Amino acid sequence: MNLFADLHDRAKELLEPAIHDYYAGGAADEFALADNENSFARLALLPRMLRGGPPPEPRVDLPGAPGAAPVLVAPTAFHRLAHPEGELATARAAAATGTVLISSMAATTAVDEVVAAAREVRSDAAVWFQLYLQPDPEVTARLVERAESAGCTALVVTVDSPVFGDHVRDRRNGFHDLPPGYEAANMRDLPGGPPGGTRDIEMSPEISWRHLEVLRATTALPVLLKGILHPDDAHLAVAQGVDGIIVSNHGGRQLDAAPAPIDVLPRITRAIGGTLPLLLDGGVRRGTDVVTALALGAEAVGIGRPVLWGLAADGEKGVREVLDRIGADVVRAMALCGVRGPDDLTANLVVPRGFGG
Ligand code: FNR
Repeated sequence: MNLFADLHDRAKELLEPAIHDYYAGGAADEFALADNENSFARLALLPRMLRGGPPPEPRVDLPGAPGAAPVLVAPTAFHRLAHPEGELATARAAAATGTVLISSMAATTAVDEVVAAAREVRSDAAVWFQLYLQPDPEVTARLVERAESAGCTALVVTVDSPVFGDHVRDRRNGFHDLPPGYEAANMRDLPGGPPGGTRDIEMSPEISWRHLEVLRATTALPVLLKGILHPDDAHLAVAQGVDGIIVSNHGGRQLDAAPAPIDVLPRITRAIGGTLPLLLDGGVRRGTDVVTALALGAEAVGIGRPVLWGLAADGEKGVREVLDRIGADVVRAMALCGVRGPDDLTANLVVPRGFGG
């Protein structure tokens, strides 16, 4: 059970089983996938009472997104497989709720159309572009140009994917490519691809900090790194001057032996907390999960699969429902914990379940 269980049930009824499995699944034995939610369940919040004030308005200033909700839409691929309006529906719902949308490079709608849909709803809607650095720097540069001219306000470079994770469910279902009629629209007409056609997204173990330096030299947009888990990498990211880190194991879809982000967040906070914005995603399913992550040092969190369930269940309205629900649940969780301001969101609020004092 979680805050979105009914929407997931409905999505499962409506989606082709292979597409549901593509969205729901993780890598290998799905240990990391399970652990992402279970790790939150192993933590409790030690609430304060009679605090004499309302909980704070949960808004946060993020790079390229002032006054954002503390829950972001994490980048997920191929929204048109969930609903015919795909990324456009997601973008409208995110904009309507003041939520940052991180638009995936592997979207089935081109980023300029995604940003335009969001800005029709709210002229200052924040859309960030998620990017896999490509082995050919020319391809990366063209993708960045597309994101910049679309009006994206930050880049999110996903660094946890030197190769694809082993998606066992997809292998069993024979789900390897997008079905006919769908394309990874951002990859259209890029150097090295077929003329007028869609180029493959390449993953490469050759990608290094050097590629990131090249990228940062070509853009003035803030750059956040997504997929950092080791405190030493967090230090390196600070040394590189990046603008934020998203602590993530890719929703359990890459290294199955990776720890849950919420379990490594305290170490990363100890290592570099306060030097740049820390975000987290993976297994966030309740307002209490959001409060836990904020108390352990995150500024904001992302949600991935719940957005896909909302989208599949009811298009834009379904995504809106997901974002409204989690927003209200964060306020409820803060009130129940007696949180009145950032000073109350500290690690002391979080205790292990079975806490003995
Ligand atoms: C993802 N994720 C992802 N991440 C990314 O950087 N680029 C991408 O294109 C995708 N695509 C993608 C597809 C699907 C179907 C899923 C479920 C996830 C990972 C995503 O951004 C995020 O890290 C996780 O989804 C967060 O975990 P939860 O909220 O799904 O548990």
